[in-house]
Amino acid sequence: MNPCLRAIVRTAHFENVEVVGVREGFDGLLRGERMRLTARDVGGIIQRGGTILQTARSPEFHERKGRLRALRELNGAGIEGLVVIGGDGSMHGAYELTEMGFPVVGVPASIDNDIWGTNMALGVDTALNTIMEAVDKLRDTASSHQRAFLIQTMGRNCGYLALMAGIICGAEVILIPERETSLADVAEAVEDAYARGKTHAIIIAAEGNSLAPQDVVNHLEGLEVGFKTRLTILGHIQRGGRPGAFDRLLATRMGVKAVESLIAGETSAMVGLDGREITTVALSEVVSRQREANIEYFDMARMLAR
Ligand code: F6P
Repeated sequence: MNPCLRAIVRTAHFENVEVVGVREGFDGLLRGERMRLTARDVGGIIQRGGTILQTARSPEFHERKGRLRALRELNGAGIEGLVVIGGDGSMHGAYELTEMGFPVVGVPASIDNDIWGTNMALGVDTALNTIMEAVDKLRDTASSHQRAFLIQTMGRNCGYLALMAGIICGAEVILIPERETSLADVAEAVEDAYARGKTHAIIIAAEGNSLAPQDVVNHLEGLEVGFKTRLTILGHIQRGGRPGAFDRLLATRMGVKAVESLIAGETSAMVGLDGREITTVALSEVVSRQREANIEYFDMARMLAR
């Protein structure tokens, strides 16, 4: 989000548009938490994870009354357009504001990659690299000690992170919400890996899949599938850290496009990556669907786990 903010502020200044940063998301908007942002204020942040503006969940903004207050704040401050950087919930909030007549352009940012209208959201690639590094390290223990490891990734109800991580880390089993897998299926795959002479088995499980991680571990331990099994929940380390090259470039391109779109008169859109292009898609379309993991990769990952 920081490289995106930098691009937004500097593009706007180049176009002689003043920028006001809102601290702590929609919640800060309601409380009038604003600050003028100059080109210098966003210096030295391109390499920092998170957001210098900070963020917060806002139950009040979910209510129409709250959104009306936000609108009053925006109009009172003479603000003419808003860029909202965030996930699914933020895009819904952004859409609601546009329905009340305020121009908003959204920038998709969520490691879950569940936002409709873009191939990639900000943070996904950096999170995937973090997962890859962690799994590579866990694999050293797994191989040396002949173990199975269940590694749980984030992603809320979307299996994208787990599926892609499973492919790039060569997992034997991938558990995602989009594809039902039973305890028996997991045990069979792990036993099969052992029987074929593998030195370890890696199971990557999305947090939203239907099997509880400890149940899988207990099941495998109870059956004695050849390997001893250990559990690692990666948790919030996936959400932090220096943005990688891909994310910095994507964030910069999206930030520039968001400002250009607002200046060009867009009133209700989100910027997105479509092929190699940064495009805009109507917020009404963004909020009408949810992006799921590319299920065609699931069978490919299975084939490659032989
Ligand atoms: O939506 C991003 C995400 O990191 C999900 O992957 C995860 O389920 C959730 O947020 C965690 O939220 P919190 O930080 O509130 O625990």
